[in-house]
Amino acid sequence: MISGNTGGPESLALGELPEPVAGPGEVVVQVRACGVNYPDTLIIADRYQFRPERPFAPGAEIAGIVESVGSAVDGFAPGQRILAMINWGGMAEKACVPAARCIAMPDAMPFDEGAAFLMTYGTAYHALHQRGRIRPGETLLVLGAAGGVGLAAIEIGRAAGAHVIAAASSDAKLAVAMAKGADAGFVYARDASAKELAVQFKAACGAKGADLVFDPVGGALSEAAMRTCAWDGRLLVIGFPGGIAQLPLNLVLLKGAAVVGVFYGLFMDREPEENARNNRALLDLYAAGAIRPLISQRFPLERGAEAIAALSRREAHGKLVVEISEG
Ligand SMILES: NC(=O)c1ccc[n+]([C@@H]2O[C@H](COP(=O)([O-])OP(=O)(O)OC[C@H]3O[C@@H](n4cnc5c(N)ncnc54)[C@H](OP(=O)(O)O)[C@@H]3O)[C@@H](O)[C@H]2O)c1
Repeated sequence: MISGNTGGPESLALGELPEPVAGPGEVVVQVRACGVNYPDTLIIADRYQFRPERPFAPGAEIAGIVESVGSAVDGFAPGQRILAMINWGGMAEKACVPAARCIAMPDAMPFDEGAAFLMTYGTAYHALHQRGRIRPGETLLVLGAAGGVGLAAIEIGRAAGAHVIAAASSDAKLAVAMAKGADAGFVYARDASAKELAVQFKAACGAKGADLVFDPVGGALSEAAMRTCAWDGRLLVIGFPGGIAQLPLNLVLLKGAAVVGVFYGLFMDREPEENARNNRALLDLYAAGAIRPLISQRFPLERGAEAIAALSRREAHGKLVVEISEG
């Protein structure tokens, strides 16, 4: 699935790219499945942090089989099943990946779940643990709770012993979030003001408010969430599909609160050892059955653009995965 020109999902088309060759420290992977994430909608429109040279394939997380390894690669061999976080290039039959970005995939994990694992759980774990300092018994408010990272935050929050309150924009989405184990939840209006939303948020979070807010949506919801923060509350800034909010800073002062940025992509590169510890913890949680990606739709490679379009239209529940058949 190739982006040849800047645009929305309609600008993507099936096509041929040169056969990848593993350079030093790289592996070539036969991709079996690629998770779809909101950044895919941005990268094809040149609205993301990375602007790859065209033509390129979108797709930032993959599960597949190592086909070949370059020089100076330790720990990976042809035939091995792996998971990898890449910035783009996943919606393709093959991808060339730095070995440092690969993780051995557990035998019991199917490819579709593997492709829906690292980005969302990695982001949620880093956000809640390193950036949010989550503690057992705290109240965690998760916005966009039926989206990819939102659902992951529910599971990671529960596993950390938090009281999780899910918030989403429809009854159907809230039902998905509650089924993932949220303790309570509510539906927010799509077009309400920050002050109107704050009334609803405060009613849902109780007198003390939210110790931690996981905000992958932005827009008016961010200010409403800040107004709902408890003393020493932390608002985790994850993403902005609803728009970039302007926050009144007096609220931050009055609550002794913190607005905390989360940038998982840079964290992986800047703190690889901490990230490796997080990934081990996530695989342990998966093995224990505490986390499991909810895949609501699967698409063949030739319909990858439809998967990105569904995410752009705010329709996705949990994860969408593009599957690539054995070549
Ligand atoms: N900071 C990081 O390191 C990091 C890492 C990964 C992802 N992200 C960001 O996190 C956000 C969520 O990513 P995701 O892959 O979980 O996406 P997703 O599954 O599409 O979830 C995004 C949620 O945002 C809400 N939303 C509000 N307005 C929207 C709009 N105009 N279009 C689409 N969704 C809208 C939707 O929930 P409701 O309808 O319930 O409001 C939707 O479920 C994105 O902004 C992404 O870039 C950040």
